[in-house]
Amino acid sequence: MSDLNYSDKVMDHFLHPRNVGEILDASGIGNVGNPICGDVMKMYIKVENDIITDAKFKTFGCGAAIATSSMVTEMVKGKSITDALKISNRAVAEALGGLPQVKMHCSVLGEQALRLALADYYRKTGRDPSAFEPKNTDNHEHKIDKADNS
Ligand code: FES
Repeated sequence: MSDLNYSDKVMDHFLHPRNVGEILDASGIGNVGNPICGDVMKMYIKVENDIITDAKFKTFGCGAAIATSSMVTEMVKGKSITDALKISNRAVAEALGGLPQVKMHCSVLGEQALRLALADYYRKTGRDPSAFEPKNTDNHEHKIDKADNS
């Protein structure tokens, strides 16, 4: 990647991402992209009795976005919908041992993809998904760091 200071956990989740793939009979799917960097993330969740039993992702993006996706899918498994909603991009970055400030915006994609997957699940089960729409407006401002071409 670059000489940015990535934690060992970020590198581990980037090089060995967990839960890559798709869930064919997903209960909810969240699709999010950033028009500036072009990174896209798709998150699938399987929900039974309002508990998330499985989560997978496909991310075409930078290392921080891949590590974030991997961590979100790990964090969300076994959680209730209510608890999953509490997973913020900052909590994910923290679980990864931190992200360089210029890459914090990448973690926003993870939070948004999860919220959109939860909204999709609510919509599919005939409930109002408005509470799930992404709240984070820390909107992927893409500051180009010359040391980082990811
Ligand atoms: S998600 Fe766009 S650069 Fe990381």
